[in-house]
Amino acid sequence: MKNPRLIAVGVGPGDPELLTLKGARLLREADVVVTPIGDRSDSSVAHSIIAGFVDAGRQQLLTHVYPMKKNPAEMEDAWQASAAEVAALVRAGKMVVFVTLGDPFLYSTFLYLYRILLDQYPDVAVEVVPGISSINAAAAAADLPLGLASDRIAILPATFEEDKLRQTLLDFDTVVLMKVHRVFDRVRNLLKEIGGERRAVYVKRIGLAGEAVFQNLDEVKTEDLDYLSLVIVARGKRD
Ligand SMILES: C[S@@+](CC[C@H](N)C(=O)[O-])C[C@H]1O[C@@H](n2cnc3c(N)ncnc32)[C@H](O)[C@@H]1O
Repeated sequence: MKNPRLIAVGVGPGDPELLTLKGARLLREADVVVTPIGDRSDSSVAHSIIAGFVDAGRQQLLTHVYPMKKNPAEMEDAWQASAAEVAALVRAGKMVVFVTLGDPFLYSTFLYLYRILLDQYPDVAVEVVPGISSINAAAAAADLPLGLASDRIAILPATFEEDKLRQTLLDFDTVVLMKVHRVFDRVRNLLKEIGGERRAVYVKRIGLAGEAVFQNLDEVKTEDLDYLSLVIVARGKRD
């Protein structure tokens, strides 16, 4: 007898081989698999990662639309509808897997759902299965270690205020800038302005069609910018 609950499964950044064994098993065992889709380019990515692990003939495969708006209030209705359906399925005895790109606890869509479930449906059991984040996969693809010994590592959305971004780049040994595509030029200019010996790498669509690693930010053109991209900045030159 399965234990009814919601399980957030991190499916990794793109390559299905980076899905954990536990994640793959739970995807196969689930009664219902929910994939959030947005109006962004990552919409179909989670589908493609899990396609080989689910079976539409045996399992209920749902998509929940999570629109991406600047104003969170405009997204609240979609999150509430998603939470209500998930809660109803779990209360009906189903084991529900909610798929998230990378890791569920790192800037993930799942966190909206998680907050509502904790607040409004406390009887619904929730489990989180970690996934390999885009940060880990990008560091490996770029051949750029994130930290050693007492190195300090910062992770932040690149859309952060410029002064704080500058200070973070000065304070930390390694800085990971997520969601960089819209502010890429600002980041590139800021790095030039700060100067010093730093290695900055732009990584896009890791594990997916169109994957690319730019070891020199000056070579990145506008058409190379993608929502699924990040920049890693590390102190020191390339060995
Ligand atoms: C909403 S966050 C999701 C992060 C995800 N939960 C994780 O653990 O990687 C989306 C951001 O993650 C990064 N990202 C996710 N997948 C990526 C990929 N395959 N390649 C490069 N960056 C990726 C990008 O910075 C993107 O803007």
